[in-house]
Amino acid sequence: MKKMIPALLASVLSVATINAAEVDGYKVYKDNCKVCHMENVDLAFVKANFRKLKAPPIMEVSNRLRDNIIIADDDDDVKREITIMWIKHYIENPSLDYSMCDPGAIDTFGIMPTLKGVLKEEEKQAVAEWLIDEFEDTNFK
Ligand code: HEC
Repeated sequence: MKKMIPALLASVLSVATINAAEVDGYKVYKDNCKVCHMENVDLAFVKANFRKLKAPPIMEVSNRLRDNIIIADDDDDVKREITIMWIKHYIENPSLDYSMCDPGAIDTFGIMPTLKGVLKEEEKQAVAEWLIDEFEDTNFK
């Protein structure tokens, strides 16, 4: 019986890995984030429509994390992993204490409502990976 547990665990883990690869992070964004974090808008649009927005545009969120999270040894893979962990944590535990959002923007938008219980583990992983990879080479302007 004891020997069966690791085998069982291994099969459960491998199923989880397959599922994570199948989840489309962009779709998770469109279904769960886009209603607040707009896509395909520029700074001019944001300035003109600031009062109508519910949250910073998604590209700006991504850029902010990339520019703000700095690690000492300049290893891109480590930085990516840390950023993914931060995003997954933040969407379930948003907080004024460690939001990186501009204070003026927080005055307008408030803090993000928690999505605890809304997304499955593989959906959180996929959307966090998408968020960090999609805007790797783009700058919100
Ligand atoms: C109901 C509106 C709403 C939804 C839905 C929403 N967010 Fe947010 N989010 C906000 C607001 C408002 C902020 C800015 C204030 C803050 O940092 O909490 C924010 C901030 C963030 C931040 C932190 C940015 C920073 O600089 O600190 C991340 C990361 C984020 N959202 C990711 C997501 C992801 C990923 C989803 C979908 C899975 C999502 N959000 C869905 C409203 C929303």
